[in-house]
Amino acid sequence: MNTLKGTLVVLAVTLFFASCSSSVKITGEKPGTANTKGLKDYYKDFFPIGVAVAPRMLHGEDSALIVNQFNSLTAENAMKMGPLHPRENEYFWKDGDSIAFFAKKHGLRLRGHNLCWHAQAPNWMFKNANGDTVTKEVLLQRLKDHITTVVKHYKDYVYGWDVVNEAIDDRENVFYRPSAWYRICGEEFIAKAFEYAHAADPKAVLFYNDYNTENPKKREKIYQMVKKLKEAGIPIHGVGLQGHWSVNNPSREELEKSIKMFSSLGLQVQVTELDVSVYAGRQGGQLIQGQRRDSASAFTPEMEEQQREKYKMAFDVFRQYKGKLTGITFWNLSDRYSWLDGRGRKNYPLLFDTNRQPKKAYWDVVRFDAAK
Ligand code: G3I
Repeated sequence: MNTLKGTLVVLAVTLFFASCSSSVKITGEKPGTANTKGLKDYYKDFFPIGVAVAPRMLHGEDSALIVNQFNSLTAENAMKMGPLHPRENEYFWKDGDSIAFFAKKHGLRLRGHNLCWHAQAPNWMFKNANGDTVTKEVLLQRLKDHITTVVKHYKDYVYGWDVVNEAIDDRENVFYRPSAWYRICGEEFIAKAFEYAHAADPKAVLFYNDYNTENPKKREKIYQMVKKLKEAGIPIHGVGLQGHWSVNNPSREELEKSIKMFSSLGLQVQVTELDVSVYAGRQGGQLIQGQRRDSASAFTPEMEEQQREKYKMAFDVFRQYKGKLTGITFWNLSDRYSWLDGRGRKNYPLLFDTNRQPKKAYWDVVRFDAAK
């Protein structure tokens, strides 16, 4: 009896110290099965970890991986103006609702994406009955009606919205993107969009969302715009760094500078659309001017090592800015599908491979000393 008792004491002590270990225990089991730790568990003391989804992913193996690994969702397309509001007096709620119900059922947070964007905006929004361009007053009223209807519809599901997406131009000598919104309303549509969203749901966290936010010149323009909105008392609460990065950008320095600059305004910062293209390039590895299309479509060991370095750097920085960073969302679930595919080449931008298995970069992201 004493030997057994002694053994139990040793076992209890061992288990106690193992549970106190500050370094995260690596289970190593196959993610997607119920009892394995997921990204959300490794990062539960830092920030929610989300993923952009389509309705087709809410069943079968994709859904198991989503629930096991993530605690936040974004609708990749279903809640955008065009898919949601295809005709002036017609809303198509089914796809967005399926994602909202799935999030509620599984206790997942839900980011709303997005209320006002130059892309995927339905043509009817900008035309009157004669087919002519609408006036500023008509367009702002239509924007108000859309935002009010959508935000109220999802009020009990969505905690925060990407209110305006990509309003700043990439060209150095152009400030605002010359979208139909801007051409008809001037910059005022931006402030109005935030006011409409806040009136519809005063609790919602409201973000300005954009890409290439680590490019110094674009970042400065975004900073000036959101600073001006904040100083004017416009209800803006956060900036979304989309995070469509590649193996050669951004640098650690530029990433840290973006987080520090926007959080210095008292705004939340989130990475809202994270992926790391395995092809060098600007946003999402899109071809740099003159860069030839890469015919290779294999995920080479060199690509993997470069991608590992970028993901490791990024999550080292994310953890360092815990509190200023209030969420990290991946854009798409696994390398089975990425919005980056189809440019004449397959991309492999995510942490799960084409068989939904964790890549080496996944283990780089979850292996860290929480005490640092
Ligand atoms: O649903 C229709 C389908 O009925 C039709 O048969 C098919 C072929 O025309 O098109 C389908 O719609 C496509 C939609 O994705 C859903 O698959 C659109 O053509 C296609 O343009 C759309 O692409 C989306 C893109 O935004 C639109 O610009 C991507 O999936 C989506 O990942 C991407 O996401 C954006 C973020 O919202 C904002 N930040 C940049 C990011 C990447 O562009």
